[in-house]
Amino acid sequence: MDPSQVKIPPMKDLTVDNITENVIRINSLCEDERMKYVLERLVSHLHDFARETRLSSKEWMAGLLFLTEVGKICSDVRQEFILLSDILGLSILVDSIDHPKPPNSTEGTVLGPFHTHDAAEMPHGEHMSHDPKGEPLLVVCTLKDTAGRPIPNVKIDIWETDSSGRYDVQYAEREGPDGRCIMRSDGDGVFWFRGITPVPYPIPHDGPVGKLLKLLRRHPFRPSHMHFMFQKEGFDHLITALYLRNDPYETSDAVFGVKDSLVVDIGRAGSEYAKKYNVPEDQALLTYDFVLVSEQETSELRERNSKLALDKLGRKVKIVNGLPVPDLD
Ligand code: BEZ
Ligand code: FE
Repeated sequence: MDPSQVKIPPMKDLTVDNITENVIRINSLCEDERMKYVLERLVSHLHDFARETRLSSKEWMAGLLFLTEVGKICSDVRQEFILLSDILGLSILVDSIDHPKPPNSTEGTVLGPFHTHDAAEMPHGEHMSHDPKGEPLLVVCTLKDTAGRPIPNVKIDIWETDSSGRYDVQYAEREGPDGRCIMRSDGDGVFWFRGITPVPYPIPHDGPVGKLLKLLRRHPFRPSHMHFMFQKEGFDHLITALYLRNDPYETSDAVFGVKDSLVVDIGRAGSEYAKKYNVPEDQALLTYDFVLVSEQETSELRERNSKLALDKLGRKVKIVNGLPVPDLD
């Protein structure tokens, strides 16, 4: 679009009351309908936030300097912006909107900053953690679709901390991946491996996000958990985790990731599992049946939820590429 052809009001004498509509108008030259909509709402909410809080220049500068610090501490192995999004509840909110789940399917949770792309692919039954101080844990899982059919050959990423609550990437002298692996479900949708019993740990809090938590009188801990990521064509990418019941932080996770359906009890192998998986009878045991949702089911549910949510707000929208944009026709 040629900007000279578009009628733009004179950008002059803008006030507390008319600045918003003028910024939105100049941004409306954008040809991408979805981007235009997201920017329109972002500007509108940001301006309302400033008007409603009577934001002072000093406060806004403090906010900008805070974001500058967040950026400065980021590196290949430190993602402070994800942490910020996590502790503000935005990560879990976006995940819930973008990956809606029908009843009886496995819910998602926060990804966090510690997934890597260098985990080794392992056969079932292998040790994915080599921490001698960890309590050995046998993990046996199934993977089904929402109709109860086993899903074979799903790529499964699994990662957890060591017994001191640190991920391998948090060690300066990391030699290679540990406490993480990739497996594939077998023909019956089963996968199993040996890990260690998860422990609670603090999210990185030696940076600006940690300072913010302190100012808010919040602790930085996450309850004990193990992460899982499932990928197979035709299914919605599932990022989730299992949390141990009765963890001291079960109801105060610093990043709001715990859902009741993801809270598990650790049992003991007993004679049946001990024989089948060649572990001691008193070995800690975690079992879980994961249910993946197809891409088709997910996109239908996402569209339905979008329409309902925007209807409630009195907005007329249409769906383009699976996402809402204003319906101006
Ligand atoms: C994690 O579980 O690995 C995590 C999630 C959010 C922030 C920090 C860590
Ligand atoms: Fe974690």
